[in-house]
Amino acid sequence: MTTITTAPGPAHAAILGVGAYRPARLVPNSEIVDAIDSTDEWIQQRSGIKTRRIADDSETVISMSVDASRVALERAGIAADQIDCVIVATVSHLLQMPSAATAIAHELGTKAAAFDVSAACAGFCHGVALGSDMVRAGSAGYALVIGVEKLSDITDPTDRGTAFIFADGAGAVVIGPSDTPGIGPVVWGSDGEHYDHIRTREPWVDALGSDEPGIPFITMKGSEVFRWASYSMAKIAQEALDRAGVTVDQLDCFIPHQANNRITDAMARSLGLPPTVRIARDIVDAGNTSAASVPLAFERMIADGDARPGDLALLVAFGAGLSYAAQVVTVP
Ligand code: COA
Repeated sequence: MTTITTAPGPAHAAILGVGAYRPARLVPNSEIVDAIDSTDEWIQQRSGIKTRRIADDSETVISMSVDASRVALERAGIAADQIDCVIVATVSHLLQMPSAATAIAHELGTKAAAFDVSAACAGFCHGVALGSDMVRAGSAGYALVIGVEKLSDITDPTDRGTAFIFADGAGAVVIGPSDTPGIGPVVWGSDGEHYDHIRTREPWVDALGSDEPGIPFITMKGSEVFRWASYSMAKIAQEALDRAGVTVDQLDCFIPHQANNRITDAMARSLGLPPTVRIARDIVDAGNTSAASVPLAFERMIADGDARPGDLALLVAFGAGLSYAAQVVTVP
């Protein structure tokens, strides 16, 4: 019997470069409080957010992704045509088809396999797991993983529970072969019992076919999500550490999804992170950018010198679904 020939890849994969695109316009709390009967003080105290970046018409899911990817490629020293797979994590590419990834791949100048991942705020960490496994399995020499959102398109500026939280931006990483393990085992899953906790209000067809057509904005049961994340996500993060064989004392950076500084604090406390672990706080002036939040925070930590080459960083992300994913990675 003839057997199928396989071509496994290298033993290890790693993140080789991280890039970001932040929209030019900074929107402080003072600009949004009137529409939601809130205050700068309340927003900062409850979420940590002072300002966020909101894209203009020329800053699209595609353009922000392309700009972030170019930076990541340059930092990785990889040309676009060396990329074999483009994975885009997003919930705000508002075409049902085709994928954002195909347009991004084209703009970058590669004919790589390209597809989108829908795992909301956890999407980027899902993409990193996929990219890492692809490289090690031999199905991609190099993979480009992007987290991107233009949440301002689907956020109701008058909704007190979401208007101050969500924002726009893009982050990207290049994943490729490595002599040593650079991406630990992923711990991921879903808790679909809470499917309705964060969602768009209704299907597009209902929103546009109703008597008063409109965009199906994001709705969120904030308190329920807050309790779920504060209670459950430290356990997932700990499992990712355990599976990578890394203790909190060996960890250098903690880069959680930038959902709320109080959730980050609760996770850090539950994990027992020592003061030597540097914690990402990008939310303060970036808001919650869903799939883009972890790569944006990662890029910021590298730019600020808080994440240095060879450091061990714990990534953990969670969001609509409810879905989650975590892994330990080496900083490029
Ligand atoms: N401005 C001012 N006051 C507000 C407000 C706003 N935007 N939104 C709610 N409030 C008020 C409420 O009316 C309530 O007042 P009351 O006590 O007099 O009844 C009080 O603040 C508490 O409301 P609650 O909804 O329980 O707030 P909270 O403490 O849960 O904080 C969030 C709200 C959204 C900041 C918080 O729930 C949260 O961060 N949740 C998780 C969000 C998240 O992580 N999302 C992303 C996951 S991907």
